[in-house]
Amino acid sequence: MSAQIIDGKAFAAQVRARIGEQVATFHATAGRAPGLAVVLVGEDPASAVYVRAKGKATREAGMESIEHRLPADVGQEPLLALIDTLNADPAVDGILVQLPLPAGMDERAVTTRIDPDKDVDGFHPVNAGRLATGIEGFVPCTPYGCLMLLKDTLGDLSGLDAVVIGRSNIVGKPMAQLLIGESCTVTVAHSRTRDLASVVARADIVVAAVGRPEMVRGEWLKPGATVIDVGINRTDTGLVGDVDFAGAMSVAAAVTPVPGGVGPMTIACLLRNTLISAQRRAG
Ligand code: GUN
Repeated sequence: MSAQIIDGKAFAAQVRARIGEQVATFHATAGRAPGLAVVLVGEDPASAVYVRAKGKATREAGMESIEHRLPADVGQEPLLALIDTLNADPAVDGILVQLPLPAGMDERAVTTRIDPDKDVDGFHPVNAGRLATGIEGFVPCTPYGCLMLLKDTLGDLSGLDAVVIGRSNIVGKPMAQLLIGESCTVTVAHSRTRDLASVVARADIVVAAVGRPEMVRGEWLKPGATVIDVGINRTDTGLVGDVDFAGAMSVAAAVTPVPGGVGPMTIACLLRNTLISAQRRAG
């Protein structure tokens, strides 16, 4: 038996098209396009690729892309000053500082300087707290994209056993919060988890976000599970996820590919958050 491949690229294209329509309505009523400011510090090649892709998708959705590129040695204070300017700019609805920042810069200080009501990444502690307590805010884009794929594949998630592998602030923790919100029974596994195979074996839903190539083995999975692979690992043989894709395909009911699974959903959710911000700010 072979699992369904969850086509994140196609689903993200549908989401983006719908956002584009809502952006056109917003523009017609508010008299301006939603604006997303993206800040790239330094020359990290992977970050540069992501920032270019975000700018392109923003423009394609009919939004304003405001891009700031700063040298790696710009220093903390000028970056914080730029964030203050963007916080105060009425044409900017969303602010994203691409991570990782160059060595020596304080990511926490930068992330917390962004106005929580423009924090379309959902990384500010205020938005993490809002998510944890069920208050409307901004949800980080990658876990929200995973949730959209899960709901599209499975419908109601209520009562399902979900295992999130990885406990980062950006993916693992918010993913667990979102699944709790859907009434799943959630286990968060991580590098210190004992006998990960047996934890994974009872899961109806597996979300892998560990950053280790093909670590989650197909033979660990419960037959019929749905597997969401957040990993993007560059190896000698090309891009691979955190899940042994071939093995998972022969056991699971549905699996996201890498690339073409979760990745495209992250950008779609960034556009969604920016539109929501513009709508909220327009009152
Ligand atoms: N670096 C890798 N992914 C992300 C993301 O979603 N947002 C930001 N700001 N930086 C990232």
